[in-house]
Amino acid sequence: MGLLDGKVVIVTGAGRGIGRGEALECAAQGAAVVVAEFDPDAGDTVAKEIVGAGGRAVAVGGDVADAGVANSLVEAAVEEFGGLDALVNNAGILRDRTIAKMTDDDWDAVVRVHLRGHFLPTRAAVQYWRENKRPGHVVSTASTSGLLGNFGQTNYGAAKAGIAAFSTIVAMEGARAGITSNAIAPTALTRMTLDLMPEEWKRQRDAELERGGFDFFAPENVAPLVAYLCSDESSHISGKVFGVQGDSVEIFQPFTSVAEVTNGGRRWEPSELAGRIDGLFTASGIQPGPENMMDRMRYKIL
Ligand SMILES: NC(=O)c1ccc[n+]([C@@H]2O[C@H](COP(=O)([O-])OP(=O)(O)OC[C@H]3O[C@@H](n4cnc5c(N)ncnc54)[C@H](O)[C@@H]3O)[C@@H](O)[C@H]2O)c1
Repeated sequence: MGLLDGKVVIVTGAGRGIGRGEALECAAQGAAVVVAEFDPDAGDTVAKEIVGAGGRAVAVGGDVADAGVANSLVEAAVEEFGGLDALVNNAGILRDRTIAKMTDDDWDAVVRVHLRGHFLPTRAAVQYWRENKRPGHVVSTASTSGLLGNFGQTNYGAAKAGIAAFSTIVAMEGARAGITSNAIAPTALTRMTLDLMPEEWKRQRDAELERGGFDFFAPENVAPLVAYLCSDESSHISGKVFGVQGDSVEIFQPFTSVAEVTNGGRRWEPSELAGRIDGLFTASGIQPGPENMMDRMRYKIL
């Protein structure tokens, strides 16, 4: 018995990396999988791998930020496998530049793939679930780059923080219809991150793996949490943001107000704030200048 026996799951960007691991795990848990992938060869390879292992899968090529493609994913799930139970929004790209060097195209391409590429498949899935009075599960892919901020990633970080907010609001809107929506912030070594690693680091990792050590940052390690969040076992969990890597699952606190200054029921004079605003930093321990929140992560690759 698998966690997803008889279920149908769409995974976007499933041709490689984290999405490939998610597609294979959902299939191993009994789901039929719609493998949505921009690169048709990569998508076909994953679908064939699932079918070769005795599972059910179909590859759908194209850009998930295109409405026709996004809608066709739900149509493929219904036509090929008789319905849809979960959507995993995973497809993504990087175009890192500091803000001064960021081109319009760098900005638009990243925001489009991530935000529009989450919005369109989610809208199609939610419309299907509401029209058919069925419950459903959405898992979206945020990033610590958005939750915490990361140098050189204004486009990617803004999109990923937007995805966390998007997922939380889908959760609120879907609650009465039995639709859950959660987001993950994964860390894994994939095409997206491997190129960033120093050669010496890669050599040490290869040596550790040869000794039979746990491949902590293998992309497949993200998949068990995602399969669980796609299943009815997690129907009581919605609107949450989880960190996931290796054998670790974390939960992120939403942005939370932790200190306040008030002005005795009168509107502030801007100059009065100069004397009082530092009270917020004293009360909270938050630094007034920019902070590298990534330094506080439990797990990071670099
Ligand atoms: N690797 C990490 O450490 C890490 C950290 C945080 C977040 N993420 C996020 O996880 C997700 C997967 O990343 P990955 O590391 O596996 O990257 P990857 O590049 O290995 O895989 C991404 C896949 O998505 C596909 N894709 C890209 N744009 C697409 C589009 N418009 N339509 C359909 N498919 C598209 C690519 O062809 C590729 O197969 C991304 O959303 C990424 O931002 C990754």
